[in-house]
Amino acid sequence: MKVLVTGGAGYIGSHTLVELLGQGHEALVVDSFSNSSPKALERVRELTNGHFESVDCDIRDTARLSETATGYRPDAVIHFAGLKSVGESARKAVDYYDVNVAGTVSLLRAMEAAGSAKIIFSSSATVYGEPRYLPFDEDHPLGPTNVYGQTKAIAEQLLTDWAGQGEGRAAILLRYFNPVGAHASGRIGEDPRGVPENLMPFLAQVAAGRRESLRIWGDDYPTPDGTGIRDYIHVTDLARAHVAALDRAATASGALPYNIGTGQGVSVKEMLSAFERAVGRKLPAEVHPRRPGDIAESRASCERANRELRWRAERSLDDMVQSLWAWQSANPWGYEAPHEA
Ligand code: UD1
Repeated sequence: MKVLVTGGAGYIGSHTLVELLGQGHEALVVDSFSNSSPKALERVRELTNGHFESVDCDIRDTARLSETATGYRPDAVIHFAGLKSVGESARKAVDYYDVNVAGTVSLLRAMEAAGSAKIIFSSSATVYGEPRYLPFDEDHPLGPTNVYGQTKAIAEQLLTDWAGQGEGRAAILLRYFNPVGAHASGRIGEDPRGVPENLMPFLAQVAAGRRESLRIWGDDYPTPDGTGIRDYIHVTDLARAHVAALDRAATASGALPYNIGTGQGVSVKEMLSAFERAVGRKLPAEVHPRRPGDIAESRASCERANRELRWRAERSLDDMVQSLWAWQSANPWGYEAPHEA
């Protein structure tokens, strides 16, 4: 298939490109590089020998995006481009609505111009908010508790209304749990700008000597060891879910949400020990009060994705932490030369 990939230079986008090209698909990347590096695309080229073009374009530039899409005529679009920091979304709400919601409107306009009717959307488990029951299934009510999550829920609604208008349209909404790890080569991985908010990129920077110590946000949750439990998924398994979703989109119509996780809960302390095993030494960590807005536990039911996408997560916790360390130790400063800590 010919696939237009927005945000293809980002963490999940770059890993998905590798899997797409590896399975014989063609791709055109659209990225503004506002939060990613063109070097990620160079590394994808190295890894795949795959030929793909990339266009430096902000998805909110509807004219340029339409021209790009019309010239390429994709069979499907995978839409990663967006802002993704929960903390920042509280301070820059309008930017989050502009990029994540208005940007998706702009993309749908471009798809209409290009006669493209299939989209895979990068959504998040954060759309569920506080769990009413666990594991989360796709019928769990939505109730995001932060601006970032709101923009994902609104974009899902927008895509649902768009896909409901027939004409062979389909929107596959992939609700990611907690993506971690890196490609087995160690050549591409997560490279956040500024201080990472998420557990694993922060921990990886502690191990690389860029940060002093992990702050464990609370050990008084009602969980076996008191720390928060999440459903971590290897980024390569997540990338492959997108390739599986392309097949589903080809024959589906309407909007279809799928949880993408492993179904296994892992606590912060368990994650820390697993990562210490991969690094081969103890890492400094101290317990701090809970982070506002955090939930005790999040875990996916992935039965629907297993059944309907014929996909399941295959990589273990050790694969996640070992690949993360292979990437971080070979690229302590990510894609760029050393810069501010
Ligand atoms: C966070 C976002 C979520 C987003 C997801 C993307 C919040 C409230 N939620 O989810 O919307 O979709 O990232 O991956 O920010 N932790 C520490 N120390 C740290 C960082 C995290 O102890 O320095 C703990 C957290 O309390 C949590 C676990 O590690 O229990 C995972 O945290 P994180 O990686 O930020 O992911 P989520 O909170 O699940």
